[in-house]
Amino acid sequence: MVTLEGLTSAEAIELENKYGAHNYHPLPVVLNRGEGVHVWDVEGKRYYDFLSAYSAVNQGHCHPKIVNALKAQAETLTLTSRAFHNDILGRFEHYATQYFGFDKLLPMNTGAEAVETAIKLARKWAYEKKGVHEAEAKIIVCENNFHGRTTTIISFSNDPDARKNFGPYTPGFIKIAYDDIPALEEALKEDNIAAFLVEPIQGEAGVYVPQEGYLSKAKELCEQHNVLFIADEVQTGIARTGKLLAVDHEEVKPDILILGKAISGGVYPVSAVLADDTIMEVIKPGQHGSTFGGNPLAGVVAMAALEVVKEENLAENAETLGNLFREKLNVYIAESKIVKLVRGKGLLNAIVINDSEDSSTAWDICVAMKENGLLAKPTHGNIIRFAPPLVMNKTQLIECVGIIIDTLKQFEK
Ligand SMILES: Cc1ncc(COP(=O)(O)O)c(C=O)c1O
Repeated sequence: MVTLEGLTSAEAIELENKYGAHNYHPLPVVLNRGEGVHVWDVEGKRYYDFLSAYSAVNQGHCHPKIVNALKAQAETLTLTSRAFHNDILGRFEHYATQYFGFDKLLPMNTGAEAVETAIKLARKWAYEKKGVHEAEAKIIVCENNFHGRTTTIISFSNDPDARKNFGPYTPGFIKIAYDDIPALEEALKEDNIAAFLVEPIQGEAGVYVPQEGYLSKAKELCEQHNVLFIADEVQTGIARTGKLLAVDHEEVKPDILILGKAISGGVYPVSAVLADDTIMEVIKPGQHGSTFGGNPLAGVVAMAALEVVKEENLAENAETLGNLFREKLNVYIAESKIVKLVRGKGLLNAIVINDSEDSSTAWDICVAMKENGLLAKPTHGNIIRFAPPLVMNKTQLIECVGIIIDTLKQFEK
């Protein structure tokens, strides 16, 4: 019998180190409980969660409505595979397509799988609808992108850790600078372009917010060239940036929308690709799928999680608290020697530390914030991302800004 009781943090970390692959470098904290904006470690210390499992837990930890949906369905029917119909999938597809304004949805499990799905869909559309020559379709992507960890996706990453010694790489991608309209215009002149795949804000790269008008101009150019505009909203979607989708800030409707993470409130792996019929109809039986994709447990969890976003006005809350967060940090930064700037939208923000990218300062600050009761993580080198659950209230946010600033002050020279 596996025992789940009584591990100290040190024991839990030792077990992971000894028996788990070392493919992550976590902060030294071992969590065993979460509720709303808080998590607790095995010694009983409470923290504010300022990562939200990379923006999967937007609705807060263990949201009762989502957990209850999971429990009820878990006792009824969990998995049928797509060999048979189930009585939830169609309801979920109907609900989510209405919710986001598309004709059809293709359900998967993880973000990376949804990105793979979007790539396959765009290529097939290019051959069958646009008339691109067989096996010559190209997809334009951006420098410093993060779309997941599969072999094809890392093929168009420029992060050495993600790529090195994982080749040979999948061809068919053109990389251009992010937030650079002339670069996109140039790339669109090439033949056989199927799609432009873009994160509306580059989250993993360090919360890079493009200039206002970038997304709408990019969409317009794609339309002119009969190229699909694919928005990867796995991290930015579901109210995180102060709107339901980050593309909503510029009133852009992508041709293909990729969702993951918070579509399930972090309760169960659910991802989805949405598109209109003219695109989605190129996928026929047997051409794509997943044993777990579209299972009834996923369907009820996602519907409950999406309802919570509307019922609790999470987009509006993210917008208001995000403005307050940046406003308060900017007051401190004006006098700080350690922090260069804060940037972000809604409750997806980051600070850039005034130190070299290979310094350990950002990591050391995160360890010190942990001691002070708040969990965040560097994204890259000298950048710390702040992305709390969107169910936070104003009093809590002000307390958290206090913890962050007090900790940063410990590092002022
Ligand atoms: C924009 C974006 N796309 C895709 C992914 C991959 O999602 P997953 O880790 O669920 O495969 C991530 C994960 O951080 C992401 O931020």
